[in-house]
Amino acid sequence: MISKSPSLFAWSLSEPRPAGIESFLERYTASVTFYGSSKTALRDGLAGLVDPGENVLLPAYLPDAVVEPFHDLGLEARYYRLEETLAPDLVDVERRLDDETAAVMSVNYFGFPQPSLREFSALADEFDCYHIDDNAHAPLSVDNGTLLGTRGDIGVTSLWKLLPIPNGAILYCNDDAVAESFEPSSLAGIHDQFRLDDYRFICKSLVADLLDRNATIRRSVDDFVAGQSAGGSDPRARYESGKRPMSKLSAYVVDDADPRSIRVARRTNYRAWQRIFETRSGVDVLYESLPEGICPQVFPVRTPTPQPLLAALEDCGVGGAHTWPRLPSTVRENSTYDVTTRLAREIVVLPVHQHIEPSSIDAVGERLEW
Ligand SMILES: Cc1ncc(COP(=O)(O)O)c(C=O)c1O
Repeated sequence: MISKSPSLFAWSLSEPRPAGIESFLERYTASVTFYGSSKTALRDGLAGLVDPGENVLLPAYLPDAVVEPFHDLGLEARYYRLEETLAPDLVDVERRLDDETAAVMSVNYFGFPQPSLREFSALADEFDCYHIDDNAHAPLSVDNGTLLGTRGDIGVTSLWKLLPIPNGAILYCNDDAVAESFEPSSLAGIHDQFRLDDYRFICKSLVADLLDRNATIRRSVDDFVAGQSAGGSDPRARYESGKRPMSKLSAYVVDDADPRSIRVARRTNYRAWQRIFETRSGVDVLYESLPEGICPQVFPVRTPTPQPLLAALEDCGVGGAHTWPRLPSTVRENSTYDVTTRLAREIVVLPVHQHIEPSSIDAVGERLEW
């Protein structure tokens, strides 16, 4: 079975033990502050730069909880439209900018650089507002020598999307003035002790690894869990529950991970999926080209019929393929955002993480009825 996320236990058995992620990042940026989540990092990074009542521009194609740190700071969030290519609709961005705009945010979706970033950044300069480079998806992606997340005045990246860890994210202060005004709150940094959450994560990882070996039991447990959490926590509650420093267990894994081999493995798996889908009709590969330096978070495809594709993948033992993201209700319910709503309905993401063997993806290709 192809698991949704990398495994803590596969990591613990891997050799050799190399330089770690922090020293890799420090080759590109001087300002790395750890947090439990990107949302908390965004809150802290912006706190000294904005005033309540100002507004911030966010792309409409965004998970529902990402707006919460901006609301927490008393900011009005304005969603801007996207093109089919995931580039910002620059006319719409300009229309929504005004004297009260404190910041505009771009997103490097799925580990790939945001299209039209230069023009977007020029608009931020013209309106004299901060540019946030949301790189939650790809801590290790480097585009033409620049680490993604370090292009705006401030940037964030989510380590937990890359590694088998309970939480973990980074705030980059990319501009000297921003770095000077930054005052880390008690949510910054790393817990100095192992906590209950760390032990809970280890137990969950162990169970997940066992379940991945048995697809039938896994499906029953997933159904049970889905039933228990139906209607689950709201975006605000999810944001609040993530407000904490990075866990000690996370710091330990981050310190011990090999950025180079992770990137190589994810790229290899990306290409394995690409070989499968480039010859099948009814599914478009979102990014045909995988430029040097890019570390994909997932393999995104677009199809007008996502449910049959998800069912066919599940039949082949692919865990964790899903449509992305769960949009904010203000976006979902507003026909202005029809392109975004369609993207969220039709984009399906497949796992490429470093603990998948490329041969198991090839095997899916042989069985996939599509
Ligand atoms: C584009 C984007 N930005 C920000 C976030 C928030 O990341 P975190 O969960 O680390 O707060 C996410 C989370 O899924 C995301 O997809």
